[in-house]
Amino acid sequence: MLQLFFCCLALLFCLVKPDPDPLQDYCVADTKTPPSVFTNGVLCINPNLAFASHFKTSVLSKPGRTSGNPFGFNVTLTSTTNLPGINTLGLTMARADIAANGLVPPHSHPRASEVTICLQGNLLVGFVDTSSRLYTQQLRPGESFVFPQGLIHFLFNLDSMHSALVLSGLSSQNPGTQLTSIATFVSKPGIPDEILRKAFGINGQDVAKIRKNLGG
Ligand SMILES: *[C@@H]1O[C@H](CO)[C@@H](O)[C@H](O)[C@H]1NC(C)=O
Repeated sequence: MLQLFFCCLALLFCLVKPDPDPLQDYCVADTKTPPSVFTNGVLCINPNLAFASHFKTSVLSKPGRTSGNPFGFNVTLTSTTNLPGINTLGLTMARADIAANGLVPPHSHPRASEVTICLQGNLLVGFVDTSSRLYTQQLRPGESFVFPQGLIHFLFNLDSMHSALVLSGLSSQNPGTQLTSIATFVSKPGIPDEILRKAFGINGQDVAKIRKNLGG
């Protein structure tokens, strides 16, 4: 009985894949034609019209401006628009610039695991698993950390003088990002106050204050 259970479990895990596999070598995204039908991914151009340049992007070469962000971070992502060759490959790359003592606040990617490498700075990174156990590590340049799919994680720049830079790879073409605090307190429309009061054990003023602090 137990063996059967583990067999089923193993089978299930084999079937769990980040994104569907491509049926062709590549499917360079057609970024010109506005979609009238929606597919799982973006429509491809004729493979004969593909160029090497479709597989290159410079978007990650420039730092993002962190000054306009209340948490002090700026994330730049590859997409089928700025890197058409990535369509259907199940990958996204991200560059995060994090100001001195800046924070990429707790967030999750519903469709991707993430591997991050610290290129510059001194970071405290971590995630919380579904049993609410926290896993944290300090990252120095050249060191990497993985955030399992869907779990809430954060990156904090411990350095109060210098900015930090990380590069991440994500296992989906469309990882999705949900900032925990924003999704909870400044969704549109908002979650009713009573629910937030009960959920966090706070009063109406606290709810209003947190909403205001988060720009809601
Ligand atoms: C991130 O940086 C880019 C490039 O400097 C800038 O255009 C963009 O407005 C920044 N985003 C935020 C949220 O500040």
